[in-house]
Amino acid sequence: MPEKRLGQLHYAQMEATFRTNTFGPALVLAHFAPLLPKQGRCLLAVLSAKVGSIGDNRLGGWYSYRASKAALNMLVKTAAIEVARTHPQAVLVALHPGTVNSALSAPFNGAEIGRPAAEAAGDMLRVLDGVPVEETGGFYAYSGDKLPW
Ligand SMILES: NC(=O)c1ccc[n+]([C@@H]2O[C@H](COP(=O)([O-])OP(=O)(O)OC[C@H]3O[C@@H](n4cnc5c(N)ncnc54)[C@H](OP(=O)(O)O)[C@@H]3O)[C@@H](O)[C@H]2O)c1
Repeated sequence: MPEKRLGQLHYAQMEATFRTNTFGPALVLAHFAPLLPKQGRCLLAVLSAKVGSIGDNRLGGWYSYRASKAALNMLVKTAAIEVARTHPQAVLVALHPGTVNSALSAPFNGAEIGRPAAEAAGDMLRVLDGVPVEETGGFYAYSGDKLPW
């Protein structure tokens, strides 16, 4: 479960969270970005989370999860700058899916406040269709709103 207080931080939990949310997607970026076509619009998106927004952090808690997603957003932004040099039409984005019914959200009343994964996927695909190439590296919500870092 996510930490509520500093006193609950444990190295093993932090490492496991970063492995899944940050290091894994970083290596996906490293291996897949070079495979993007050099001409024509192309997309590479990762699932981030609004709680990874530093500017939007109002409640605190969830230390490892928040930090791992903030780090993921930085990796996407940094990769977008590099990839734009060789792939001028590529769009890399970090997406917040909203609250979705899943194993992850279940312990936090996800079933009551969330929506089905297929709906969230549809929303995110619509957002991806609309992200202009100048906005590569951005952090977007499923609604299409740009989120603060
Ligand atoms: N659900 C929400 O409300 C919500 C909100 C904001 C952001 N997100 C983000 O959306 C993404 C998908 O979340 P979800 O709700 O669909 O969660 P989920 O149902 O728990 O699915 C998580 C997925 O990650 C895989 N996974 C977990 N630990 C892993 C590990 N150590 N190595 C490799 N794969 C691992 C799982 O694989 P297995 O199926 O093989 O276990 C599963 O496919 C996550 O990045 C999450 O942070 C979700």
